Amino acid sequence: MDGDHLKTLILFGALLLSTPLSAAQLDLELGASSRTWQTEELLKHPQVQTITISNDVSYKRDMSYHAVPLAALLTGIKPEDHLQAVALDGFAAELSAAPLLNTQGARAWLAIEESTKPWPALSEGKPGAGPFYLVWTDPQAGDISPEQWPFQVASIKRMAPVAERFPALLPDPALKANDPVNKGFALFQKNCLACHRLNGAGDAQFGPDLNIPFNPTEYFGADFLKRYIRDPQSLRQWPQAKMPGFSATVLPDGDLEMLVGYLKHMAGRKVKP
Ligand code: HEC
Repeated sequence: MDGDHLKTLILFGALLLSTPLSAAQLDLELGASSRTWQTEELLKHPQVQTITISNDVSYKRDMSYHAVPLAALLTGIKPEDHLQAVALDGFAAELSAAPLLNTQGARAWLAIEESTKPWPALSEGKPGAGPFYLVWTDPQAGDISPEQWPFQVASIKRMAPVAERFPALLPDPALKANDPVNKGFALFQKNCLACHRLNGAGDAQFGPDLNIPFNPTEYFGADFLKRYIRDPQSLRQWPQAKMPGFSATVLPDGDLEMLVGYLKHMAGRKVKP
């Protein structure tokens, strides 16, 4: 290689290194109205505003964001549709479209990180919630759980409902719709499926499968399992633990009981590998 080429290469390398955090993109795979948004385009969206979130679920303090109402981005989506928000780290939040389309009460917003003003780290040594983060104003009004606040979002996709995509998650079809096991299944989808598969079914790649080879109801004494779900670190401690605890405000005792009831039921419905 001659000297000039080498100089060009070095110059090019220096340019790459000095480029500020490049703008991110959000893929909306909504069927007919799919599109990709760049950070800069979202910041120029006609409905963009600055919102304040009190006691932000991920930052655990008040935060302020540039945000677009999610409903404005979900063109063509109907309340009965099912969506999945996939994060950069593989966290896959299953979301019913109905609450996301609300224009009053609990309201969903897509918070947009500006490339020139990165958000703070979520905790020491971790990345921030950007490039896109789903936040809620008035979450109490809609009974919105922490798993409905996905961060580091890379794409939002329209999908068939969970039960259709993953029949291996289904309780015995002979059970009545209002059977506590079916309620437990709904709670599992809302709170756990974003991180855990069960019977190999689900899209999460974050936590262990909760039925194969063993179901936690088979190896945790009942009270220990509940204690684990309330506060994983109260059973065993290690610094890299990633599972959040579910307090009684998020998962009241009755709900926790039904959730464990679903897990117990599924121990009898294992899928053979
Ligand atoms: C944000 C992701 C996340 C969510 C949400 C989550 N978990 Fe976990 N869970 C994990 C991870 C990761 C582990 C592995 C241990 C760790 O790193 O904390 C784990 C471990 C577990 C274990 C222990 C398994 C073992 O044998 O050690 C159980 C039981 C469990 N989760 C149940 C649940 C239930 C029930 C829910 C819903 C109420 C839930 N988890 C929600 C991420 C999550």
